[in-house]
Amino acid sequence: MDKVTVPLIRERKGGERITMLTAYDFPFASILDNAGIDIILVGDSVGNNILGYPNSLPVTVDEMIHHSKPVAKAAKRALVVIDMPFMSYHESLEQARRNAGRMIKESGAEAVKVEGGVKMRDAITAIVDIDIPVMGHVGLTPQSVNAFGGFKVQGKGAAEERLMEDAKAVEEAGAFAVVLEGVPRDAARRVTEILSIPTIGIGAGPDCDGQVLVIHDLLGFGDFRPKFAKTYVNIREQIEKGVKDYIGEVRTGAFPDDAHSYH
Ligand code: KIV
Repeated sequence: MDKVTVPLIRERKGGERITMLTAYDFPFASILDNAGIDIILVGDSVGNNILGYPNSLPVTVDEMIHHSKPVAKAAKRALVVIDMPFMSYHESLEQARRNAGRMIKESGAEAVKVEGGVKMRDAITAIVDIDIPVMGHVGLTPQSVNAFGGFKVQGKGAAEERLMEDAKAVEEAGAFAVVLEGVPRDAARRVTEILSIPTIGIGAGPDCDGQVLVIHDLLGFGDFRPKFAKTYVNIREQIEKGVKDYIGEVRTGAFPDDAHSYH
């Protein structure tokens, strides 16, 4: 299988749907890569899925690099994209370039993802200008959770035009693809029609050029299941069962038995 690159993702616009999932460590990245996923995103959702934070806001550049290194090592075919965390590109264009450069240099990822549309146009261009590919992210951008007053669907009614402007700004700034998160299906279809770069949806309906999910949602890890996330495997139940069986067998003395002992 050919290595997935940024130009190949661009070429998939309107073609075979792009598949993307998050991973935050070596074993998961390796499984995703072997299964044939196109893009592995080391999302700043590492904050709420792995690090125990309430949301992605506390995540640091160092934490992103720490989690991306094993993912980049595991990914032989998939394109690896790393999220730029909150406040790592908001202060100045110099800061955006410096952190993007550091994250690519130290993590082994091949592209960065930046949240925001019109407001982040210059930051995206500054990073693209030093030849670091940027994936945009508009709609329900989790780093804006406090400004939105919660994880609420964006781009409804009158806000649809703002969503179009944000998506166009990301394309004009030089992004190679854009994540559309938490927007009405019809708005996502419109964005997908007007942009020449691929759209990758999450909670944005079926008409995008690709789809992304958080791996923990797909596997049924968390207690909270967003409406848009389909649980393909209930791994949490399976892990709990395995752990309870182990506890029970250790307590009764059934484990370890002779077959699991050395002689
Ligand atoms: O951090 C993340 O996992 C993301 C996806 C939801 C797209 O940005």
